[in-house]
Amino acid sequence: MNDETIDQERAAELRDKLADELKEAGFIASAQVEAAFRTVPRHAFVPAGTPLEVTYQADSAVVTKKDENGVAISSVSAAYIQVAMIEQARLEPGMAVLEIGSGGVNAAMLAEVVGPNGQVVSVDIDPEVTDRAIALLDAAGYGDRVTVLTADAEHGIHGFGPFNAIIVTVGAWDLAPAWLHQLAEGGTLVVPLRMNGISRSIAFRRANDHLVSTSAVVCGFVPMQGAGQHNDREFLLPDPHGHTVTLRFDDGAPDNPSLLDGVLAGDRSEAWSGVTIEHGVSFADLHLWFASFLPGFCKLAVEEGSELAQERKSWFPFAGVRGDSFAYLVVRPALEGVGVEFGAGAYGPHGQEAANAMVAQIQAWDEQARNRPEPTFAYWPTGNTPAVPEGTAVLNKTHGLVTISWPTG
Ligand SMILES: C[S@@+](CC[C@H](N)C(=O)[O-])C[C@H]1O[C@@H](n2cnc3c(N)ncnc32)[C@H](O)[C@@H]1O
Repeated sequence: MNDETIDQERAAELRDKLADELKEAGFIASAQVEAAFRTVPRHAFVPAGTPLEVTYQADSAVVTKKDENGVAISSVSAAYIQVAMIEQARLEPGMAVLEIGSGGVNAAMLAEVVGPNGQVVSVDIDPEVTDRAIALLDAAGYGDRVTVLTADAEHGIHGFGPFNAIIVTVGAWDLAPAWLHQLAEGGTLVVPLRMNGISRSIAFRRANDHLVSTSAVVCGFVPMQGAGQHNDREFLLPDPHGHTVTLRFDDGAPDNPSLLDGVLAGDRSEAWSGVTIEHGVSFADLHLWFASFLPGFCKLAVEEGSELAQERKSWFPFAGVRGDSFAYLVVRPALEGVGVEFGAGAYGPHGQEAANAMVAQIQAWDEQARNRPEPTFAYWPTGNTPAVPEGTAVLNKTHGLVTISWPTG
């Protein structure tokens, strides 16, 4: 962004206001991260013309590049998740840190936190992104404090490391073995990990033969490219009026999706859970619960004009496929009190069973996970098999497996 067109005073004002907000919300917890956030001119790293009000908003990422289908593949990540991930990494002055996915602003904040005796390496697979990051870091005075490299981070960073922290700033489906090799003893790996379609930025530390989470934050990131790329599987269901409903599976897609052909032309079933929630309250932990325990879990996308699109305010894009039928998360005004009640709408010959199965998981979440501490995540590299206690979800990955354990009792 051209400095001359920017009202620097206004930018500094907005940055301080946002720092206060992020502190208040708990995303900024340490004096080092607070100082870094207040120092780095965020507006110097977003595309020209981005309004300062957007740059200095807690939860807006600014897209910097799209692929040929219009899908975002690079962005300046949202401020809240940048500071939250730096906090998760527990950096100290003098540490060596690797940022996977470049942009400039986050690397500049890392340089502030690790200080002149620390080391920041930032790697991106896309030379256009690294060229831009190098130019912007130079212009903002961080050119000699950050090393920017172009490479597919899946294969590790040759000639550098070990790192006290590795912060992955791109959506990962699995942990590359190279990251574990390049992590110093006692180091922290912070990674936005996609688990059956649901993401958390997880801070992992080594515990003997596996990694255990020390914190997790709700997040969304552009997807990994290169050797670690993971593609969803999509099934398109036409409705009777020619509009399409898409079921998108991150993992565990059904063997015979053609069983669902024509289901949208049939009758709709539903079931209600008795579980209510007030308006405006997050239920991100229900999404994670579904991803862990609802068989056939997938995301739902509907085309404009379809019947489902018209009921948009009464459902959420989470579904479970059961053989020839599928159920999706719905809400209706709570019969008593305020807010809404969760339930399931369903289509298919066994739609009622699919709806009942989803409602059973809503009730299990309400009893066993809601308003409880976050679950613990663990990663077991291939060859290290965990003893899995009952109630722990296990997700298979390419290079290992993830377990998700909710606190019991
Ligand atoms: C959200 S952006 C990074 C944001 C940045 N850290 C910032 O300062 O806001 C994610 C980046 O990851 C990069 N990326 C995707 N796959 C990668 C891979 N395999 N190795 C390295 N970088 C990758 C993309 O090119 C994209 O620029």
